[in-house]
Amino acid sequence: MVTRYHPITITLHWVMAIAFFLMLGSGLVMENLDIDPNLKFNLFQWHKSLGVLLLCTFFVRLAVRLFAEKPALPDALSQREQKLARWGHRALYFWMIALPITGWFIVSASVIGLPTIVFGQFVWPHIPNLAGNEQIEEIAETVHAALAYTFIGLIFIHITAVVKHMRKDKINLLPRIGIGKDK
Ligand code: HEM
Ligand code: HEM
Repeated sequence: MVTRYHPITITLHWVMAIAFFLMLGSGLVMENLDIDPNLKFNLFQWHKSLGVLLLCTFFVRLAVRLFAEKPALPDALSQREQKLARWGHRALYFWMIALPITGWFIVSASVIGLPTIVFGQFVWPHIPNLAGNEQIEEIAETVHAALAYTFIGLIFIHITAVVKHMRKDKINLLPRIGIGKDK
């Protein structure tokens, strides 16, 4: 029986966590701050580039998560807490895939129709038959923003749960995700 997640899951958990923080930061800045138009354009390109890479990485993470053995949740957690943890993780996975997909919808339906050139290297295709569809663009923008703001709340709950278990219940979950040694 394993006591921690698969090394690929652990690596991706932390790399993707950093990347998602950067995505939230760049999205909030480019949409809500009055910045230089050049910087804004570059930030948009950067946001789209990292976003589509996260979309691809998600499938690697999901595959490893589904097929590799995972550590059982500690018995010290009540049945209710274990259920909450499982649903919380499922929700995080859902947000991790829904965010880049809605972003992809926005750029594909955009009236401006700028291509997505991933870090200036290759063109990421648009979803076919959506170009110039203002209605889809608007819906995708609304959903994308709603998902982004609720994602911040979810991540906050996720981190709070880890800290609560550590402080109050004296259960350290961090070794399971690669931080520190198992007891
Ligand atoms: C964007 C930010 C984050 C996302 C999307 C995220 C997502 C996830 C997901 C989905 C899991 C379940 C394991 C898996 O199947 O991959 C997990 C586990 C875990 N995460 Fe995060 N995480 C984030 C940030 C953090 C941070 C900042 C911490 C630090 C406190 C953290 C601590 C943990 C721990 C300790 C576990 C293991 C939980 C267990 O015992 O099963 N995560 N995370
Ligand atoms: C992967 C996770 C992603 C996160 C966490 C994220 C986050 C955000 C945030 C916080 C905003 C600002 C929302 C607002 O205040 O209106 C935003 C806007 C935007 N994002 Fe993302 N995003 C992600 C992926 C993507 C992808 C993959 C694309 C495109 C390929 C994309 C394209 C856009 C566009 C075009 C906007 C501006 C929308 C508008 O004009 O209202 N995003 N994103």
